[in-house]
Amino acid sequence: MARVFSGVQPTGNLHLGNYLGAIRNFVPLQDSYDSLYCVVDMHAVTVWQDPAQMKTLTREVTAAYLAAGIDPKKAIVFNQSQVAAHAELAWIFNCVARLGWLNRMTQFKDKAGKNREKASAGLYVYPNLMAADILLYKATHVPVGEDQKQHLELAHDIAQKFNHDYAVEIFPQIEPLVLGSATRVMSLRDGKKKMSKSDPSDMSRIVMTDGPDEIAKKIRKATTDPNALPGVEVLTEKGEVPDETRAERPECWNLLGIYAALAERALSDVVAERAGQQFSAFKKALTELAVEQLGPVGTEMKRLMNDPGYIDSVLADGAARARALAGPVLAEVYDAVGFLRS
Ligand code: TRP
Repeated sequence: MARVFSGVQPTGNLHLGNYLGAIRNFVPLQDSYDSLYCVVDMHAVTVWQDPAQMKTLTREVTAAYLAAGIDPKKAIVFNQSQVAAHAELAWIFNCVARLGWLNRMTQFKDKAGKNREKASAGLYVYPNLMAADILLYKATHVPVGEDQKQHLELAHDIAQKFNHDYAVEIFPQIEPLVLGSATRVMSLRDGKKKMSKSDPSDMSRIVMTDGPDEIAKKIRKATTDPNALPGVEVLTEKGEVPDETRAERPECWNLLGIYAALAERALSDVVAERAGQQFSAFKKALTELAVEQLGPVGTEMKRLMNDPGYIDSVLADGAARARALAGPVLAEVYDAVGFLRS
């Protein structure tokens, strides 16, 4: 069976963007693929993380996976640092990837900002670790958001260069399952910015553990414009929002996109239904839908977070199963590289 790998960083404030853009989409894949869902704690420490928070945040992502419907009997759910082979394969990939390739990574440029000299070396080689995550299991399908596409292309290039340089066929081709722009969730305060864990305003994001009152308040206060909702005539023939149209009313399109994603309906369908409506009425409908969809997930997350022993047992079991898959692949790689194994 084809294999899926994906990962989420334990950096806190898991929000609607993480849910709609990633976690929720992992769930149906577990029935048609051999799947591994990882809490990528080693990726998280490429920028400073409070050590006192790491364990809680690792359990939180695990709880989100489980609450969203990932079944730890079907999928392998684990945290990265418990499987040493990720770091071992990443080292080999540090020696395969070229500096020129890493220098093109836009996420490094964004995250390092102006003060590149102060960025960690880990942040720079982060894409090599990500390639190792995937290729350690010879995963072929990787569900990620648009922002990770460049990293997947790099993983593909690393796999091909390794196979070529060592004249082996160890690594498969990687197929991104890039999750559509429909699931690009923007800030509730500013529709031009992505919803983000690090936005100083709590009102900019709905987090996965928000209860009905918080969800209602955040949607009620979400930035909008004074006009009524648009109709389908502004969409393209394929039912998409032209960039210029979106740029005119980014907050409006964001809320419509969130509604469509939560309802699992086509955006054009929702636009047709809501055309001409006032925001006050639409926001009420959106709140109801969001509470209905997110409420049970948040409640289950909180219940799981109160049972850390159970979460840790899921991670321990997942790590053992992951190690069993990773071992033979790493052995194949070490053999190809020519490392002496006694
Ligand atoms: N880089 C991803 C992110 O920040 C997380 C990640 C790490 C990942 N390793 C991965 C995603 C492997 C898919 C596959 O969102």
